[in-house]
Amino acid sequence: MTFSPASRMIDDALLIDADVLTQALPYIDYQNHHLTIDGVPADELCQTYGTPLYVYSKRALLDKYAEYCHGFANINHRICYAVKTNSNLAVLKTLAQAGAGFDIVSKGELARVLQVTDGKKVVYSGVGKTKEDIAFALEADIDCFNVEAISELDLINQVAQELGKTARISLRINPDVDAKTHPYISTGMKDNKFGISHEQAVASYLHASSLPNLHIKGIDCHIGSQLLDTQGFSDALDKIIELIDALKAHGITLEHIDLGGGLGVRYIDENPASIAEYAQTLLPRLQALGLTLYLEPGRSLVANSGVLLTRVDVLKPTEFKNFAVVDASMSELIRPALYEAVMAIIPANNEHQDNPKVWDIVGSVCESSDVLGKNRLLDIKVGDTLAITGAGAYGFTMASNYNSRPRPAEVMVDDGKHRLIRQRETLDDLWKGEFA
Ligand code: LLP
Repeated sequence: MTFSPASRMIDDALLIDADVLTQALPYIDYQNHHLTIDGVPADELCQTYGTPLYVYSKRALLDKYAEYCHGFANINHRICYAVKTNSNLAVLKTLAQAGAGFDIVSKGELARVLQVTDGKKVVYSGVGKTKEDIAFALEADIDCFNVEAISELDLINQVAQELGKTARISLRINPDVDAKTHPYISTGMKDNKFGISHEQAVASYLHASSLPNLHIKGIDCHIGSQLLDTQGFSDALDKIIELIDALKAHGITLEHIDLGGGLGVRYIDENPASIAEYAQTLLPRLQALGLTLYLEPGRSLVANSGVLLTRVDVLKPTEFKNFAVVDASMSELIRPALYEAVMAIIPANNEHQDNPKVWDIVGSVCESSDVLGKNRLLDIKVGDTLAITGAGAYGFTMASNYNSRPRPAEVMVDDGKHRLIRQRETLDDLWKGEFA
């Protein structure tokens, strides 16, 4: 699928055509110049809940989940949503009710999942599982541990033995393929800390098969995030298939193959492979394997179901630059500061965009990196609301209280109605658990 460009550069400034952008985001739309999220005006949401405010569309989330199910309908599959992406209980419950499983990386994420469903469809990734983490997961009877180190096999076996249980395991293999994404979100090359190397894989499985309290269930990999084409996934699949064949020769047979997450999304003008294209690329080889497929998508399920609404508080033109200070910042949305991610910022009311100026949209945190969008051509005034799109993934979950800022509220829109799914933190929340 190709999109028409939603932006153009004018000198050094980025002009985002909000109409074109919103056409690519089926759940957000301008109605009489007012931005709506699943039919609910952004203005109404800001008046009701204040800003900064995360808003998610339930429909957008379920539509993306359905795209995965449809794409892989021809094989047994399980979509294990990567909880780290957006761990709000309402998001988890929506996906659990739709039939999803979950990929977790901590005890805390498992505890969240257990608030809305049981542990039976949970896979547990993560490089540093402790004895306590493992025991907690075994008590919850999770589906599978994605094991990331040989020593972890021994530890899981030991804890399982102590609890009189058998742990189902899969080995996370680092296939050493280049995902061609930002180095901070690339995970499948041999200099990354993740997984067990391809070279050590067979020996690790043989070791696992010698441990009495382990049941070998699968094999998995996750090579990175925001991958725009399917090449990296395809290369990783080939490497994993090689290993599955080698394991067979050693008498080790598997039940599932887990290809992780990683499919990218459109933030502005990116042209990511669609879920259908991704499925078509992988399906023939997967069908031949005959194993159940697990996937761990995060971003591609939720990024574009969410926006962050923020209010313009201060306009500060200088001889060099114009700064628009908004009430969101790197504390609420760290992606631009951490990865130099470029996310679209569009007005909640696009009626008066005739006199745009070049603005840096910044937060009021005391860091020069606290920029949400550089050199944006916008016609704005104090009190206007702006929407940062693509904010459903790695937005709230990466938010912090830096500069003692209470974290924002979250709202879910469903069929023209809206409800609070996390209340805005109060000042008291800031020092909860502290002792002066
Ligand atoms: N499975 C595992 C083992 C992972 O580590 C991740 C993400 C996923 C699945 C989901 O990947 P996704 O489908 O979302 O690409 N904070 C960064 C992204 C970090 C991704 C970490 N791992 C960002 O905001 O771009």
